[in-house]
Amino acid sequence: MKVKQVVLGTIAALLFTGAIPASAQQTDDAAAVSFPDTVSAARLSALVEQGSSLFNGGTCLFCHAVGGRGDGQRGPDLTDGEWLHSMGDFEGITETIRWGVKRSEMKAMTPRPHQMNPNGGMSIGFPEVMALTAYVWSRTNGPTPEAVARQDEVLSLLADGDGRGAADLLRADTRERPDSPMFSERAVNMLGYEYLERWVEPQTALPLFVFNAEAHPESWNVWDSLAEAYVALGETTKAIENYEKSLALNPRNRGATEALERLRSQ
Ligand code: HEC
Repeated sequence: MKVKQVVLGTIAALLFTGAIPASAQQTDDAAAVSFPDTVSAARLSALVEQGSSLFNGGTCLFCHAVGGRGDGQRGPDLTDGEWLHSMGDFEGITETIRWGVKRSEMKAMTPRPHQMNPNGGMSIGFPEVMALTAYVWSRTNGPTPEAVARQDEVLSLLADGDGRGAADLLRADTRERPDSPMFSERAVNMLGYEYLERWVEPQTALPLFVFNAEAHPESWNVWDSLAEAYVALGETTKAIENYEKSLALNPRNRGATEALERLRSQ
């Protein structure tokens, strides 16, 4: 299922309520830490990795896309070195993340559908904001820890239309670091839909959905997404099989029930 629907159902409350967590209202602890000069390279690298999993497993990717490349609509590209709301320095990025960007403060020429709430709408504290800052900052300034470099490799393989190569890298990563995968289930699903719908490249998207189903077989959503890719490829039998798997895990998946009725009557 498209992440839009899933996100709206599950984290929308978090995203769009506009509530400011207590942590975002404190200003004193911000002044106490001056990054990145006072931080060792090893610590910075660890922060970037932590920030990556917060970013690519949290709300940020919903508007800024996986890896912060921007989705061309909901949020700006954070990797292009162009900064709208600060100088792109550590402190400036921290401030943007802590306070968000109100509708009235937006700089985009084309109107964006949602404002960015403080902390991207997540209930996180200052240490997490630091890690997110380190990740966003590192996208244009380095350093690039190995795990983040490999994420970029996945993204560039996909940009070249090599979905299989990307999925193989994801598989290798899952074997090597089963407890800290480079992309969350949601991130892989979003990437899949980016290629399925935005770029209309179902053959690039398919291996991503196949990988997600291998990695998270207990999730009804991964089978639903896989089925949708098979529909796009005209592989009706496989689409039916996978919608059935999704329904077995979640009998209330109305989308799958409707899709099955449609496919069976073809
Ligand atoms: C609901 C959508 C949404 C979410 C979620 C979101 N952002 Fe944003 N973000 C925006 C918008 C909109 C802007 C401002 C764009 C503009 O001014 O045109 C923005 C701007 C930014 C900027 C400033 C970019 C610049 O050029 O100065 C940073 C940094 C940023 N976001 C980081 C994050 C991080 C980190 C997260 C996750 C914690 C996050 N955002 C979550 C929509 C979002």
